[in-house]
Amino acid sequence: MERTFILLKPDCTERGLIGRIISRFEEKGLRLVAMKMLRVTPEVAKKHYAEHLEKTFYPGLEAFITASPVVACVLEGPEVVRVVREMVGATSGLKAAAGTIRGDYSSSRQMNLVHASDSVESSGREIAIYFTPSDMHDWDPALACWLQAPSEA
Ligand code: CMP
Repeated sequence: MERTFILLKPDCTERGLIGRIISRFEEKGLRLVAMKMLRVTPEVAKKHYAEHLEKTFYPGLEAFITASPVVACVLEGPEVVRVVREMVGATSGLKAAAGTIRGDYSSSRQMNLVHASDSVESSGREIAIYFTPSDMHDWDPALACWLQAPSEA
């Protein structure tokens, strides 16, 4: 089963939206297999956002992502990387479609509430920055038989 990484950012914590946003993924039927509250350090920010280090917005992004605690999670499900990206919506809350998390709760390009991996390769890299293998919990929800037909599993 595919896994993806999400990070509920400092604006999510400060605005009291952690529960509401986690609920959307749970209600979709995705499985939480790891979850941790932490403070991102400048070193972790540089690893996580390595591809943006040279961008003009990076200093502001680092100041933002280290400003308050965040919640890191790993979600599991069929095609979960694509499904979660679609649920999260376009980078800017001003452009994200209504019905997506950013479209419903964000009006900012930087303060867009939640990060989600953009590919299976990125999810593996990002999960390894925030979690160790012993943080992962394999489990089978009793309701799994009502979420997908056996032929889809
Ligand atoms: P995320 O999906 O976590 O990936 C990189 C983050 O950088 C992005 O969400 C935004 O928080 C931030 N970001 C992307 N583009 C810009 C921009 N042009 N200006 C400021 N922040 C940005």
